[in-house]
Amino acid sequence: MGIHTVASAIVGAQKTWERKPADFYPTPYDATQVLMDFLQLRAGTTVWEPAAGDGDMAAVMEANGLDVWATDMRQTAFCEGCSNFMLSRQPVSPEWVITNPPFKLSVEFIGHALSITPNVAMLLKSQFWHARSRIEMFERNPPSYVCPLTWRPSFLEKERGKSPLMDVIWVVWKGPANVTEFVPLRRPTKDRMADITAFCDRRLGRNGADLDDILGTSSLSTNSGELHDILG
Ligand SMILES: C[S@@+](CC[C@H](N)C(=O)[O-])C[C@H]1O[C@@H](n2cnc3c(N)ncnc32)[C@H](O)[C@@H]1O
Repeated sequence: MGIHTVASAIVGAQKTWERKPADFYPTPYDATQVLMDFLQLRAGTTVWEPAAGDGDMAAVMEANGLDVWATDMRQTAFCEGCSNFMLSRQPVSPEWVITNPPFKLSVEFIGHALSITPNVAMLLKSQFWHARSRIEMFERNPPSYVCPLTWRPSFLEKERGKSPLMDVIWVVWKGPANVTEFVPLRRPTKDRMADITAFCDRRLGRNGADLDDILGTSSLSTNSGELHDILG
């Protein structure tokens, strides 16, 4: 059984999977939308998504009117730049860094992001803070919020079905904080997600309906702020 030819091994009733190369796990749209609804950033807020992959997270931020600069270590169709985040210098100063970092590099991503801006949001495994090695980082830079998602997103649903599901948290640094608030987040409803999903599928060239059909116009500017106004 070649390690790269067989994607899974059965262990009891559970499947185990090989890790994806470069820890590439695209984020379901609603896991990003819940952060957007929580943060309520104004349209035009500048965000660097430094591990953007195929753009699943960045597209949701665009749908919410944010001005997103997307890069990844890998060259992807979506990203505007190809760079190792830890080595990269930002060409502009983003107000926020928001991403779902490769798990093995989460600590480094957080540290580098906080050296760029005090406003950072990272989607992390729920047990992220259950580690002796991370307590100094927490004490040095206490996050403003730790926000568990109250559902378990499926990061590879199209490829692997509903499993594996993962417990995840948004960890948000919003300027320096003395106190960390714990705020569980409700899953956005299907109604809430309908326009966002349509926008993202169109933006990412997936099989969604044509954006002009969705919006009932054919002369729409692609400016994300304007789209936000229209999509509400
Ligand atoms: C968990 S995926 C997240 C993708 C995207 N943010 C999303 O949520 O859909 C992690 C991404 O980090 C990228 N990556 C891994 N190491 C990196 C590094 N040192 N610098 C920049 N990107 C990196 C991978 O190529 C992959 O696309």
